Amino acid sequence: MSGHFITFEGGEGAGKSTQISRLKTWLEAQGKTVIVTREPGGSPGAEKIRALLLSGEARDLGPRGEAMLFAAARADHVDTTIKPALDRGDWVLCDRYADSTRVYQGEAGVDTGYLKLLETAAVAGIYPDLTVLIDVPAEIGLGRVAVRSKSDQSGGPDRFEGEALKVHQRRRKLFLDLAREESHRFAVIDGARELDEVQDSVRKAVLKSFPEDLKPADQKQSQPEAAN
Ligand code: TYD
Repeated sequence: MSGHFITFEGGEGAGKSTQISRLKTWLEAQGKTVIVTREPGGSPGAEKIRALLLSGEARDLGPRGEAMLFAAARADHVDTTIKPALDRGDWVLCDRYADSTRVYQGEAGVDTGYLKLLETAAVAGIYPDLTVLIDVPAEIGLGRVAVRSKSDQSGGPDRFEGEALKVHQRRRKLFLDLAREESHRFAVIDGARELDEVQDSVRKAVLKSFPEDLKPADQKQSQPEAAN
């Protein structure tokens, strides 16, 4: 496996997708081949499971059953999208991964040991080199989601967005706890700031994790050239 695997995590409305797309542009400008993918989903099989999960159709299975579906989707995603891309040497930017199961299904009461078993089976040894946690207070994230669902006519919040504020606050805490426990692979970034500031922090975290592959000078590439 010669590629680079970066996952993005955070609560609802953290701004992950904007930052992923900006990071992709930046890495591509440095000649890297970048795959952007997401969970649940990211492969044809997993996208089918995504539809079941986000519509709430799988809710009757209970949190344990839902956790199994997230794991089934992840196994397919790893086998058919992530691992082949890493084997080719690509950069893989993934919107949510196993940490989301630990946090969301963990918060819903699923036993930690059970979640660990599912995770081990699903990821098949593919763990992120870097996890960018974009942290925003739950109120701010939910406010952004409310604006988004009004403007894109998506029919309101999905199964997991539409939970009570307290639930979102607990998820935020669980993400931060996880980042402390596994600090070697986490970068916690304050996502409540301006997009450009968040973008700068994401770039710094990526440079720090992959100093051999990216030159610090590249960080300035989006700034205007000095006149000569
Ligand atoms: P999505 O629309 O991709 O949300 P976001 O933009 O917030 O990433 O929906 C994914 C939802 O599924 C999100 O609410 C988090 C939830 N989820 C889990 O509960 N467990 C998981 O393992 C994953 C990957 C996502």
